Amino acid sequence: MIEIIEGSPDLINRLREYGIIPVVSIPQAEDALPLAEALITGGLPCAEITFRTAAAAESISNIRKKFPEMLTGAGTVLSVEQAKIAIDSGAEFIVSPGTNPVVVEYCLKHSIPVFPGVCTPTEVETALGKGVGILKFFPAEPAGGVKYLKAICAPYHNVRFIPTGGIDAQNICDYLAIPQVIACGGSWMVKPELIRQKHFDEITKLTEDAVAVVNRLRKDANKIG
Ligand code: 3PG
Repeated sequence: MIEIIEGSPDLINRLREYGIIPVVSIPQAEDALPLAEALITGGLPCAEITFRTAAAAESISNIRKKFPEMLTGAGTVLSVEQAKIAIDSGAEFIVSPGTNPVVVEYCLKHSIPVFPGVCTPTEVETALGKGVGILKFFPAEPAGGVKYLKAICAPYHNVRFIPTGGIDAQNICDYLAIPQVIACGGSWMVKPELIRQKHFDEITKLTEDAVAVVNRLRKDANKIG
């Protein structure tokens, strides 16, 4: 029996509660706090700050200091060096597009929740073999979407997924309706051009809309249940 390390129940509950992890690339560190404020005002105090920009570490650190109530993780972590910088900056979880064994091992050693990316059964088993039980399913839509993910879920009933890639307000409910999905990652409410142009009000509006979609799904599910 493989022991699965997946992070604290508190973290999992928060991810389930939010249902969405905004995937953010911040061009300049000065944009981090207004971006965080826009997400919090929109009702989604959560972000995965990707290491696709040089401002990632400073952004994470600034957000953690100013908004400790916001769940802030690091994304696109491709090396142990980036994982170390992310943890030192205060990241509360680490996400990668693929399953890099050395990154996963480093995160587990430092007791930081890690959600490595998978796309095939072999990759799921590689991640499981490392003891990780919450996996980013990436790139969700191009890989085959909901139908493909349901097929992947079937043999791995103890694995939970965070589908990401091509998810938006139109299709998120189809993913969240899968019991093994705890949240979806997505950048549709925090597109880089919105941040570059400092359209933080628009980010709040798109975030409110996204939260409303998830809340509607939950209300409907409660009615049926
Ligand atoms: C990611 O890195 O997780 C994806 O780029 C986010 O996917 P999206 O931009 O299609 O939402």
